[in-house]
Amino acid sequence: MLQDMQKGKNSAIIVAAGSGSRFGTEIPKQFLSLNGVEILSLSVHSFLTHPAIDEVIVVASAAFVDGVKSRYPECQVVLGGSTRQDSVFNGLNACSKDTEIVLVHDAARPLIPKRIIDACLEKLVDFDGVAPAIMPADSMVRIEADGFSNLHRGDLRIVQTPQCFKADVLMNAHTRGITDTDEMGLVKQAIPTARLGFVEGVTASMKITSAADLEMIRFYLKSYQTNSQENR
Ligand code: C5P
Repeated sequence: MLQDMQKGKNSAIIVAAGSGSRFGTEIPKQFLSLNGVEILSLSVHSFLTHPAIDEVIVVASAAFVDGVKSRYPECQVVLGGSTRQDSVFNGLNACSKDTEIVLVHDAARPLIPKRIIDACLEKLVDFDGVAPAIMPADSMVRIEADGFSNLHRGDLRIVQTPQCFKADVLMNAHTRGITDTDEMGLVKQAIPTARLGFVEGVTASMKITSAADLEMIRFYLKSYQTNSQENR
């Protein structure tokens, strides 16, 4: 177990500073209510109650930072940036000085089973970065100027969060002037020698991007709670 060998903290950073413009509501999706609870509270709870997580940092935008502070007093709450990567960087800078492992999670993914966090931490013993990923269910193509090409879906993965890293590796990647939409992509570009790996994710850890996704999450949440032993 990594925990047996490490001396520093495991810090979870939940990025919740997105505006949710694709979702089409005035309130960003992470602050909407699902079955009577705020969507953000589900991921906050997963990390706060995980025995291997020492601190939880929530990154929120200026309009929401005070509200998040008052609703989640157990978390450290910091201001986000104009991109997801900037928000992650602000979260990284708020981690304890002795943080050894960081887990970066999207607030827009409310369902994160404990066993996924366990599997990522376990695999980090031999890797610099680990994230959950699932195989696409649909056929995949790349659109090109003169048509499209087929992609073999067995070779493709949908990358989810939490994306988990040795903290010094992720911090180093953030100082190279490179941008990407997630940490696995950023570290791969910035530090080509970094050892990066994946664990099997779950469909229920989907990111909410549309109103229809909310209904799916409502459904998953029900079975998640029914099978709480297995899922938590
Ligand atoms: O926009 P997207 O769905 O990719 O956002 C993924 C996560 O990153 C969301 O939880 C969102 O709140 C967060 N985010 C952020 N700061 C930004 C943009 C997105 O914390 N500037």
